Amino acid sequence: MASPLRNDSPGLRQSWHPVMRASELTDVPVRVELFGDAWVLARLHGVISVFVDKCPHRNARLSDGCIVRDQLQCPYHGWEFNSAGTCTHIPALGEGATVPPTSRLQPSAHVQEKYDLIWIAPENPVCDILDIPEWSDPTLSAVWMPCIDIKATAGQFIDNFLDFGHFPFVHTGTFGAGEDENIAPYEVQSTMDNWGFTVDYHHFINNHEDPLVAAGENPLLQPRVMKYSFGAPFVCCLRLDLPLANQTNAIAIFLQPLDAHSTRLYCAMLRNDFTDQASRDAAVAYELAVLTEDIGILEHLWDNEIPLEVGQAHTRADRNTVEFRRIMSRLLA
Ligand code: FES
Ligand SMILES: [Fe+2]
Repeated sequence: MASPLRNDSPGLRQSWHPVMRASELTDVPVRVELFGDAWVLARLHGVISVFVDKCPHRNARLSDGCIVRDQLQCPYHGWEFNSAGTCTHIPALGEGATVPPTSRLQPSAHVQEKYDLIWIAPENPVCDILDIPEWSDPTLSAVWMPCIDIKATAGQFIDNFLDFGHFPFVHTGTFGAGEDENIAPYEVQSTMDNWGFTVDYHHFINNHEDPLVAAGENPLLQPRVMKYSFGAPFVCCLRLDLPLANQTNAIAIFLQPLDAHSTRLYCAMLRNDFTDQASRDAAVAYELAVLTEDIGILEHLWDNEIPLEVGQAHTRADRNTVEFRRIMSRLLA
């Protein structure tokens, strides 16, 4: 039987995880956390290098050091390491001295940049990062929310983000008031690689954000298409299309399991109706209010894991979150 999904499930090491915004990695090393382990990131010769954040000499944090001549320099005794993790200079031994073979940095993780984030995979990844076509859609522009640290697991956050039965109960202070409590039957479509899925859900909502409603040109009750795209382990995009109002709003979330109990959320909104800074600020404030409603539930959940096979009751309204459990069960196996 599959183990529950936790933030430190060993199977998660074989997949990609965001660890920081790429634009924030400049000319100093940075310490990041994943599953409770610490890594150091540094741009050496223009390329991102990642190592366990521990010097092989006396275990100092390399992230407290600096970058000199495109080498990572330890803050304690000044040993220098190149992008392959090889020690190239030990100041106490002078120029040209032979360095001991044990002076190498611990094996690196896989690393890549995507969606303005730096991603690492501690072991060979079994799947790619979800493709989000909205990211390169020239009709949409992106606004990042500030990062949010949550006292819940990444799996629990994805489970909540995919779920649309909670809207009229949790989001009473934002968009949920008056939303239909009934969930019509819907299909879950696997992605080509079988490590993700999409759900298209057509329904009607009261569109208070449409200026043409006040002008009497559009009805308040309008058709909306919600499209969920999920990719293992913790990437999700929710695209909302309101064709009458010509509004498209995609919300992309990327989760970093910091340790067994906490998770960092990177969230970007991709919309076609950002006109100025005020409209961006308003969207961020509104999305923060929505997220705060979700976090109020998530941080009070019973435990820090998701049972993947037995232990929870499901209905046909939960088809997408059941599929999420199936995929994660395969990943952890
Ligand atoms: S602890 Fe890093 S050089 Fe000594
Ligand atoms: Fe929610």
